[in-house]
Amino acid sequence: MRAVIKRITRYGAIAVLAALAVAQVFPIARDNPPVESEVPTTPEARAVLARACLDCHSNQTVWPWYSKVAPVSWLVVKDVREGRKDLNFSTWSMYTAKKQRKLLRESLEEVKKGAMPLWIYWVGHPEARLSEADRAVLQAWVDERVAALDAGP
Ligand code: HEC
Repeated sequence: MRAVIKRITRYGAIAVLAALAVAQVFPIARDNPPVESEVPTTPEARAVLARACLDCHSNQTVWPWYSKVAPVSWLVVKDVREGRKDLNFSTWSMYTAKKQRKLLRESLEEVKKGAMPLWIYWVGHPEARLSEADRAVLQAWVDERVAALDAGP
């Protein structure tokens, strides 16, 4: 009985390794499209965004090594694709002023709720855990941007 279980475990492990090896063969796009129009920021806000948001919400993603290893790569690529679709700080002028306002306010809300950055991002990026001070920087930046939008072009 023990021998049988041992054999099943061994074949199971080999099957898993083989599946992982095959998974590496399928190419998956990790592209960074051109930066068309960056969101205006202060240097402080830019630093916080770069630390916690831009990997998923810009065209300047820094693709980590594990983003090249399936099946983790599939998850990373999916988050970046969906993140850019909802909010892309690299194509900012494509949004209407109304949409920009909404995205700025939502960004602040998501950060305050602790919903953004996605918790999974902390695993490889402990520096993305935002402090009170970081949140205050984002708040000031959003307030300033919204005021600028309210003032008109
Ligand atoms: C690991 C990738 C990742 C990081 C890092 C990340 N996001 Fe997101 N974000 C997503 C994904 C995926 C979505 C869309 C699905 C969802 O809402 O979960 C999203 C959605 C959003 C939305 C839209 C929410 C809505 O309800 O439509 C906002 C706003 C947002 N993120 C802001 C931020 C801000 C601000 C940061 C940095 C503090 C950040 N995100 C960091 C992946 C990320």
